Amino acid sequence: MEKYVIKGGSPLVGEVEIGGAKNAALAILAAACLTDDVVVIDNVPDASDTNAMMDAMRSIGVFVEKTGRHSVKINASQITGKVIDTEEIKKIRASYYLIGALLGKYNQADVVLPGGCFIGLRPIDQHIKGFTALGADVRIEHGIIHAKAEKLRASHIYLDVVSVGATINIMLAACMAEGKTIIENAAREPHVVDLANFLNSMGANIRGAGTDVIRVNGVQRLHGTEYTIIPDQIEAGTFMFAAAATRGDVTVKNVIPKHLESISAKLKEMGCEVEESDDAVRVVSTKRLNPTHVKTLPYPGFPTDMQPQVTVLLGNAGGISIVTESIFENRFKYVDELTRMGANIKVEGTVAIVDGVERYTGAEIVAPDLRAGAALVVAGLMADGITVVDNIKYIERGYEDFELKLQDLGAKIDKVDTDKEVQKFRLKYA
Ligand code: EPZ
Repeated sequence: MEKYVIKGGSPLVGEVEIGGAKNAALAILAAACLTDDVVVIDNVPDASDTNAMMDAMRSIGVFVEKTGRHSVKINASQITGKVIDTEEIKKIRASYYLIGALLGKYNQADVVLPGGCFIGLRPIDQHIKGFTALGADVRIEHGIIHAKAEKLRASHIYLDVVSVGATINIMLAACMAEGKTIIENAAREPHVVDLANFLNSMGANIRGAGTDVIRVNGVQRLHGTEYTIIPDQIEAGTFMFAAAATRGDVTVKNVIPKHLESISAKLKEMGCEVEESDDAVRVVSTKRLNPTHVKTLPYPGFPTDMQPQVTVLLGNAGGISIVTESIFENRFKYVDELTRMGANIKVEGTVAIVDGVERYTGAEIVAPDLRAGAALVVAGLMADGITVVDNIKYIERGYEDFELKLQDLGAKIDKVDTDKEVQKFRLKYA
C-alpha cells in the first residue's frame, strides 16, 4: 500500500498553484446530467473522488470524456439505467448528488446509499425532507435510495440543519420543478454558489446562493454550457497552514482570497503574516505560533475541513488552545496518531484541549480520513526525524499531486510503495 515518507524540518518556500474545488466539481459533474446537451467543464481536479464520480456516471451510460487532465466533456443524453449501484459510487459521499440530478431530470432515481469519510453519522434526512417536499416518494430498501415523483412541484423548505449536501441536492432536484422553490437555512459555502452559477449557465433560474435563502424558479429545460470550476478553498487552506507550520514563506496562487478569510484570520491570530492580492495569498511565519481557540462552523465560519490542520499547528503552539468541532461528531480520530508524534491533546467529545509541545517527533502513523490525512502530513513536515503516513488513498481522494506540490516548495517527502523504499528514504536523509 502506498505511503508518504517525510523528513521534517524544512521550511516551505515558494509558490504553489491551487486546483479546482473538489466538492464543487462533484456537484457540478452530477448537475451536468440534467441536460441532454454537451457540457464542458474545466478546472476539474484529478483526484480519486472526482474520478470515481465520473466512473459512476459512465456506468449508467453518461458519455464522459477527459479532454485534458482537468477538462471534461459530458453528454448525458443516453442514460441507460437509473439504478446506480457500483463499487465506485459506494466509496464516495457525493454519489447522492445523482439522486437530485436524476430525480430532477427523470422524476425517478435509485442510488445506493453513499459512502465517504467516516467523520460522524452523516444522516441524509434533510435531503429526503427536501425531495419529499418537492413531491417525491422516497424509500430506502436494501441499501438503495428510491425516489420517485409523478411530477416535481416547487415547495418552501426550511432545513433543520445547515447542510451543504442537502442544499445542493434540493437545488438539483428543484431547478426543473414547476414553480418557485425556496430553501431556507441554506448552506452558503463557495461550492453551493459555484453550483448555482453553473446551473444558471445551463439556463436555470437560481437566486440567493451565498445567502441563507435560495430561490429556485423552475425552468422547462436546461441546455449545454462551458464552465470553469472555482479554486479549492480547502487545498489552499492546507498549503497556507503548511507554510505556517514550517516557518515558511509561501504564495498560494489561483485562489479567491474572500473564500479564505476565516483561515487567514486564524493564521494572523497565531502570529503569521498574511498578505492578500487579487488571486493569491502569501503566508509568512517566522516564530513559534501563538495558541488560540477555534470553533468550526458553516461558511463563512471556520471550516470543519480545516479542523485537523489547525489542531496540528496548535499542537506545537506556545500555550493551550481549545478546538471545538461543531459540524461532525467524530472528527478527532487523528489525535491518537498525533499523540504518537508527541502531541499533548485531550479530547472530550467534540472539544479538544491542545497543550502545545515544543516539537513533534517522526513516527509511523495512519491517515484516518481525507483532511486528517493531509493534516498528519503537515505534522510530519514539522517533526524531528522521519514520519511515515500510511493509508494515503484517503488523501488522494481530495488532493491532486499533494507530494509533488510539497516537493516543489522544498519539502522532503516521497510517495513510496514498499518498506524497502521507506528504508532507502531513511538512509538518504539519515
Ligand atoms: C460536505 O459534506 C463536504 N462533502 C464535506 O467535505 C464537508 O466536511 C461538509 O460538507 C461540511 O462543510 C462534500 O461536499 C462531498 P453537510 P456533507 O450535509 O454535505 C448534518 C471533505 O473532506 N446533516 O453540510 O455530507 C451532518 O451530520 C468532506 O472534503 C444532517 O443532520 O455535509 C453534519 O453534522 C468531508 N442531516 C451537518 O449536517 C442531513 O440530511 C453538516 O453536514 C445532512 C446533514
